[in-house]
Amino acid sequence: MSDKNKIFIFDTTMRDGEQSPGASMSLEEKIQISRIFDELGIDIIEAGFPIASPGDFEAVTAISKILKNSIPCGLSRASKKDIDACHEALKAAPRFRIHTFISTSPLHMKHKLNKSPEQVLDAIKESVSYARNLTDDVEWSCEDGTRTDMDFMCKIVELAISSGAKTINIPDTVGYTIPSEFTKIISTLKNKVPNIDKAILSVHCHNDLGLAVANSLAGVSAGARQVECTINGIGERAGNAALEEIVMAIRTRNDLMPYSTGIKTELLSKASKIVSNATFPVQFNKAIVGKNAFAHEAGIHQDGMLKNRETYEIMTPESVGVKKTSLVMGKHSGRHAFKEKLNDLGYVDITDDVIQSAFGKFKILADKKKHVYDDDIAALVDDSMVLDKNVINLKSLKVFAGTGEPQRADMTLDVYGEVKKTSETGDGPVDAIFKCIKVLYPHDVKLQLYQVHAVTEGTDAQATVSVRIEEKGKTTVGQASDTDTLVASANAYLSALNKMIIKRNKTNAPIEHETKKMKGI
Ligand code: KIV
Ligand code: ZN
Repeated sequence: MSDKNKIFIFDTTMRDGEQSPGASMSLEEKIQISRIFDELGIDIIEAGFPIASPGDFEAVTAISKILKNSIPCGLSRASKKDIDACHEALKAAPRFRIHTFISTSPLHMKHKLNKSPEQVLDAIKESVSYARNLTDDVEWSCEDGTRTDMDFMCKIVELAISSGAKTINIPDTVGYTIPSEFTKIISTLKNKVPNIDKAILSVHCHNDLGLAVANSLAGVSAGARQVECTINGIGERAGNAALEEIVMAIRTRNDLMPYSTGIKTELLSKASKIVSNATFPVQFNKAIVGKNAFAHEAGIHQDGMLKNRETYEIMTPESVGVKKTSLVMGKHSGRHAFKEKLNDLGYVDITDDVIQSAFGKFKILADKKKHVYDDDIAALVDDSMVLDKNVINLKSLKVFAGTGEPQRADMTLDVYGEVKKTSETGDGPVDAIFKCIKVLYPHDVKLQLYQVHAVTEGTDAQATVSVRIEEKGKTTVGQASDTDTLVASANAYLSALNKMIIKRNKTNAPIEHETKKMKGI
């Protein structure tokens, strides 16, 4: 396949993806995500918006230092201050990209920027050439591109290229376009912009109408050679185009879309899991990475599958890294076998402390539960990685639930090294548990989400609980698993609370920062 059919994958999970409510990630989580993205074969990783917050600046700096293959990128508005912050955060990397954008639709220019089209033209010229003096890899985006006047768009794209942009990104910022219209936009740019062959055209689609992936693929078919997307499709509002869907659509329908990406698809499930652990759970029926994506329930389908898998399977679970759930280990399995198993499951760079803690939990689980599956083990390791950094930990919990009595929880917590106890009643056992935590560590957060999923099947299955909390506009998500749903609930809440404490502690920028709320994208 010739190079002209190579599609560059630009991931924005840690920038646009992080703009989803509840998806903010800690520095450690971003580093873990970057490592798997680097291995996955992502071409460009947009690691954050350095001017937006000290956390973003720190993350972009740290990520720029660790990537081996992928090119790190930072976002900036059309301002020298933003571009300088980007440069400062990225400059440790041998190669890096500065991505600068400005709104170009009549609506945005008038109401958001309060600028005339001429002023926007000046800003494009100035910002792109300024960035180009700092790196030869400059990407420029016309925000709200799909609602921009087409003649104006041709003019500004030509200007951005002549000012030094090597990649021109056309965002469907509000998820408004449809495939036939987007095809026309990309084809018009290809046909009418005189210097278009000097740049790579990119697409960046939001999913407000559920069309982000379809629109991105329409853009590719019309000549775009970079797709901006996120793992699990997370992103502002209804999200961005899902990376795993774009890549697997191209791979599965290569007869109609003869393009290639450098993605090692066998790592998609692992990448999805790492991102969902840091953000929020993936819906069960999500294409490619949902729990049910390869599950065949109807008898008639199962019968077909037994005769020939292709009857109902357009891609194999193995091709995206889903291994058949196997009955793995029992209570007699040793530490060595456990470590091997973790390797098999893709946990390669975890510390001995995490392995030790997960192994201890595995032994307890194997005593309680007849069958220990791969998913159970993965849940234990994920839990151990989170608990590693907590400053508040659950020491013990007793819950009195059932009919008649008010439900009560007796709890002991380790709060910054001090052991504290309480007993509280509540409107149900979970309410009593959360009240205990509030009494032992007084705080004022709103519970936004409480969700329970079974990790595997059967009444002895572990439950994974996800909790999202909010404090002064900041949200964090915690997850925990246990065969006891109430213990998992306490740990999930504590995990979200521990993350909130880390977030609170990150104050005062190394450079002048602005809040994400101000950036208006
Ligand atoms: O959706 C959008 O317009 C963006 C740009 C900053 C590329 O995210
Ligand atoms: Zn976006």
